[in-house]
Amino acid sequence: MGPTNPVAGAGRFALHRDPHPARVATFAEDVGRGLSMRPYTLMPKYFYDDLGSALFEAITYLPEYYLTRVERDLLATYSAQIVAAFDEPLELVELGSGSATKTRLIIDAILERQDTLTFHPIDISPDALIESSHALVAALDTLHVRAYAGDYFTLLRAKRVETRDRVLALYLGSNIGNFEPAQARELFGLLGEMLAPGDGLLMGYDLKKEASVLELAYNDPTGVTAAFNKNLLARINRELGGDFDLNDFSFFARYDDRDGVVRSYLRAERALTVHIPGAGIEADFDAGETIHMESSYKFQREEMIALVMPFGFTEHRTFSDAAGRYALSLLLRS
Ligand code: AVJ
Repeated sequence: MGPTNPVAGAGRFALHRDPHPARVATFAEDVGRGLSMRPYTLMPKYFYDDLGSALFEAITYLPEYYLTRVERDLLATYSAQIVAAFDEPLELVELGSGSATKTRLIIDAILERQDTLTFHPIDISPDALIESSHALVAALDTLHVRAYAGDYFTLLRAKRVETRDRVLALYLGSNIGNFEPAQARELFGLLGEMLAPGDGLLMGYDLKKEASVLELAYNDPTGVTAAFNKNLLARINRELGGDFDLNDFSFFARYDDRDGVVRSYLRAERALTVHIPGAGIEADFDAGETIHMESSYKFQREEMIALVMPFGFTEHRTFSDAAGRYALSLLLRS
């Protein structure tokens, strides 16, 4: 951006891209892999194209999907206490920032204490990053944004996020829930390496509870979550030339209380064959055969603390709502 760029705050915004920019090839490879072996699987990070991001935003307005609202209330109540746990000046890193509306509560609390702030958001969707970053720098004239578009495992492994001061990292929205335990451990290992002793990690996660409440949050009667899942089949049609007929599939989600995970599926209602030229595959479905679309792990506070402990994190404090639905754990890198 040149010096004559008229966008407000443009000089305080920089976007860095994934070191592996071949996103479409990666999408094709992952789809090819997931639909060439049984049980069929797709990866939830691919939900978030423009339409998928808008559908997720709609999910956060559903009365049944309490996660986003409870987390926002917790941040509104506790952001000053969270920020007060660290020396100044503080820098902010966020994984999976999306539209960054909840982040604003933490940013405002930091700017109450210090004159300027550098915010490093990381997100798979460049559009969401650019939009939210422009809005933030336009609204806050002492904020600098260094944004990273890409997969956060790739970015963290490549040590692309360069910070100088005390760091608070945010990992909100129960996004950790999408990872199988081994991947979650790998991510905490990378975060432990990125952070220095005295830095912090604020984790937002959904707490274990009755199956009926959890299943309703994903099997919403309006059908928005079904549309959010089917959009990934539509995206395969759009970007990889696939011929999924979305009407042949139905959505369901089930809570497995042994593993503490809601698993989401699309089920073929009849026997059919799908052709996906862009991924170089054909996939046969028996009537009733499913595609595993997403896992959403739930935790008890003690389980989360035990999960992060091997990577050098200790619990400073955990905040949760009176009904015990959702938690924010403030962890210290020790
Ligand atoms: C954004 C991964 C936290 O698993 O609850 C919402 C995504 N999927 N409804 C979740 C989602 C269906 C969400 N995360």
